[in-house]
Amino acid sequence: MVICAGSGGVGKTTTAAAVALGLAERGLKVAVVTIDPARRLANALGLSELSNEPTRVDCEVDGELWAMMLDAKRTFDQLIEHLAPDEQTRDEVFENRIYQQLSTAVAGSQEFTAIAKLYELDEEGAWDVLVLDTPPARNALDFLDAPGRLSRFFQGRAIRIFLKPAGLFGRGTGLVFGVLRRITGVDLLRDLSAFFHALSGMIDGFTERARRVGELLEDPATTFLIVTAPRHDPVEEAIFFHRKLREAGMPFGGLVVNRVHQPPSDELPDDVAEALGPKLSERVSAATGQLAALAARDAANVERLRSSLGDPPTLVVPEFEDDVHDLEGLVRVRSHLFD
Ligand SMILES: Nc1ncnc2c1ncn2[C@@H]1O[C@H](COP(=O)(O)OP(=O)(O)O)[C@@H](O)[C@H]1O
Ligand SMILES: [Mg+2]
Repeated sequence: MVICAGSGGVGKTTTAAAVALGLAERGLKVAVVTIDPARRLANALGLSELSNEPTRVDCEVDGELWAMMLDAKRTFDQLIEHLAPDEQTRDEVFENRIYQQLSTAVAGSQEFTAIAKLYELDEEGAWDVLVLDTPPARNALDFLDAPGRLSRFFQGRAIRIFLKPAGLFGRGTGLVFGVLRRITGVDLLRDLSAFFHALSGMIDGFTERARRVGELLEDPATTFLIVTAPRHDPVEEAIFFHRKLREAGMPFGGLVVNRVHQPPSDELPDDVAEALGPKLSERVSAATGQLAALAARDAANVERLRSSLGDPPTLVVPEFEDDVHDLEGLVRVRSHLFD
């Protein structure tokens, strides 16, 4: 299991897809679970939002490449379906307004459902490798902590309070909810309490699932790739995330530094400069100088990152002129990761 983690916009989705492609080319049966692929990349992989299961990508590889786009709400629904003791409970949860809000709210549920999906695919046993792209978290740590947060929630006091609303809410709280109900017409307290009652029979199931999902993250067959870009903020975040990974005892596989500017190869050759004339060749030289400065900055950032992390395995992917939005683009990224 390969989990591509890192801050937003650094190329996690691109890297996850390219890693999966490279492994499939080596004869493995690989599924990549993407979270928020750019539309054109999703199209290139034949992904649709309608399916919450992997579909086979149409490409020539020795193994098999499968891809899916994670639908957090569908995954959550499937989990409820799986854990509900009977159909009535299931329907009560689905129809509950609080559940509808909770399961569509992206924050928090996306991290958990991503790993829950991974767990499900792992249980199927049909894959040699699973590659997981991670959500555009403000904080990649939300992801590591998602299973723990969910278990703590189900074992915590909050849920017990809602299971016995009448006894535990003081008169003041009751009054507030009463006023809210009169103004908004929404009986929040009743909705909340009905929601938690329906869920209460599933608490053990949820806690157990969250525990096993947590174990999956620490499994020796799981590895984290930290994806980053050679700029100040992503580098700082990568250093921080690496430390947290180590503290949490999670397996760290290596670094992917994406979008690294390459130094220009040469000075402008004399005959080209002559053909361009002084004005144009001066501008070309200025642009070359800027690119050289960017490349030097990037190289310094990569160096700082590597030394902070104790010289881990590092792969560098250059900044391309275009977005990576099709299989051809993925092949280019893949060749920097695997060749
Ligand atoms: N090496 C690269 N060169 C040029 N563009 C890139 C490169 N890697 C990624 N991109 C582009 O950058 C954007 C963000 O990449 P993406 O993989 O979606 O990042 P993330 O998943 O981390 O948010 C996409 O438009 C992608 O095509
Ligand atoms: Mg992404």
